[in-house]
Amino acid sequence: MTDLVLSLDVTDRTSALSIAAACAEEVDAIKVGYPLVLGTGLGIARDLADLGLPLIADFKVADIPNTNMLICDQVFEAGFSAVIAQAFPGPDSIAACVESAHAHGGECYVVAEMSHPGALTFFSEGVPEAICRLVVENGADGIIAPATRPARIKVLRNLIGEKKILSPGVGAQGGDPAEVAPLVDGMIVGRAIYGAVDPAAAARAYAPYRR
Ligand code: XMP
Repeated sequence: MTDLVLSLDVTDRTSALSIAAACAEEVDAIKVGYPLVLGTGLGIARDLADLGLPLIADFKVADIPNTNMLICDQVFEAGFSAVIAQAFPGPDSIAACVESAHAHGGECYVVAEMSHPGALTFFSEGVPEAICRLVVENGADGIIAPATRPARIKVLRNLIGEKKILSPGVGAQGGDPAEVAPLVDGMIVGRAIYGAVDPAAAARAYAPYRR
């Protein structure tokens, strides 16, 4: 029903490569963020790319357009296939990420609404809906929407049509894969897989929800 995206939030190279290799057959993409890149360096992307899976850079890019472009160019030149950007810096900042992504044959996802409880402080009162309209206008490839609030995913789906939804919050944050999988294009799971005694078995447990 959906792709399974492993969020590889470990901070050392040996663990990252061994967990990624063990789970490679069980997942459809790997998401890498600041914990792993700050712990090991950007070169980890090339090592992981050898597994042949799409690599998503979760840097939640949020700067002026020129800086966003510089950041995203580095991301794609490092071997990533997609980048995640924040919307709040505005349409021109998102457009810079989209332009860089598409120039490199990659994708850009925009955070529409975050999954943790505190996200509701600012991601409320029509803000995620406005972000979805921006995503449609500026040609981004999809949004990040919260697996912890499936009802909100349905609302946002109606606004973005065929664009993709990647959804973090399944597992450690309490999101239910059976409920979320039919609603999204990719389910992002971190701790419930990489923190398990047997990460490959933990990833395999999501097999009934994969397309
Ligand atoms: P866990 O361990 O909770 O990891 O399964 C989830 C991963 O996803 C990231 N995350 C988010 N990223 N918008 C995002 O762009 C969100 O709302 C969101 N919630 C969680 C988190 O940083 C971790 O890598």
